[in-house]
Amino acid sequence: MFKAQEIKPGIWWVGALEWDERYIHGFSMPNGSTNNAYLIMDDHITLVDTCTEAYWPQLMERIEDVVDPARIEYVISNHAEKDHAGSLRQVLARTPQAKVVTTKQGQSILKTYLGEDPSWVVVKTGDELPIGTRTLTFVQTPMVHWPDNMVTYSPADKLLLSNDAFGQFLCTSERFDDEVDACLLFASAKKYFANIIMPFAKQTKKALDAVRALDVDMIAPSHGLIWRSNIPGILDAYARWTALEPTDSAVVAFASMYGSTRRMAEAITEAFMAAGISVRMYDLHESDISDIMTDVMDAEYVAVGSPTHNMTTLPEVGAFLTYLKGLAPKGRRGIAFGSYGWADAAQTEIAGVMEQAGYQMMTDPLVTAWNDTPADAQAIFDGVTQLLSD
Ligand code: FEO
Repeated sequence: MFKAQEIKPGIWWVGALEWDERYIHGFSMPNGSTNNAYLIMDDHITLVDTCTEAYWPQLMERIEDVVDPARIEYVISNHAEKDHAGSLRQVLARTPQAKVVTTKQGQSILKTYLGEDPSWVVVKTGDELPIGTRTLTFVQTPMVHWPDNMVTYSPADKLLLSNDAFGQFLCTSERFDDEVDACLLFASAKKYFANIIMPFAKQTKKALDAVRALDVDMIAPSHGLIWRSNIPGILDAYARWTALEPTDSAVVAFASMYGSTRRMAEAITEAFMAAGISVRMYDLHESDISDIMTDVMDAEYVAVGSPTHNMTTLPEVGAFLTYLKGLAPKGRRGIAFGSYGWADAAQTEIAGVMEQAGYQMMTDPLVTAWNDTPADAQAIFDGVTQLLSD
């Protein structure tokens, strides 16, 4: 029932559409997700990447729409994370003559769940794999975003199979970039970059340079839409994003118990506005951390606030700080703030985590006792205004 779609003569999209998936490792996916796999019909039939274990029947049916899987001779694993390799065991059971093509690092990871059984072809940058009329080549892209990552290139097709790079979590019936709304597409690509790729921007820039050297008219990632019309646009976007240059913008993220920390957040937000700095204020109880992270990517300033609760932060602030610690760009400027009843513990904790995340704290934590007054809000506004003018 599941059908394949030909994206170039002899090359088929056979991926999994995950219409109902909404969450992966802290990342909200309001538009679902896809795990793309590609089948190359040549003298030696080749499958590039698989999908999560849960969706392998869909993948196999799409392959069977084109060819008997038993005829597949190579399964290329560009990346061993389980969204692309989680169904390798099931796929290999149906492709008894297939060799697994991967990097040395990929082999090491794949062996942890495949054992020694598969036949391996270990490749590195510049290696060639002749499969008939085509010769595939490989470019290692380590830490974009795992050590094993590589991309597969078919010069004959001017096609780059880029795995995670240039992906988006976006499930659509369309397969190509020019078939969907460009704003949604680029916003999804940016959110994906901010939440998956950002900590490895330096390595991604190197990979981007390698990709720019290739003669490409189609980039097919393993998540989301395939780029064929907006290739300069997504390459330029990656050039901007990997530079991690902040804009004159701020994020104020907080949670509040009785409204005092909210009033502080509002005063800080107003101070940014008065200084002409673009700002977004997020109540962490209501907002999604992966959406916030997309703004954090650009923000020169991040202010995080919580009241003290059980001598620590509110749980949603703790979750945000954990996420921030793993992803935040370095060298930006931070403010910790919040109210307290009898101990200003949460705010010190916030400042400590933000420093660990690489923020340069602009001040000691801003605190108010919880029976705050309009004068307290004015003092916060004045204090932040002064910091921004220093
Ligand atoms: Fe899409 Fe790193 O897996």
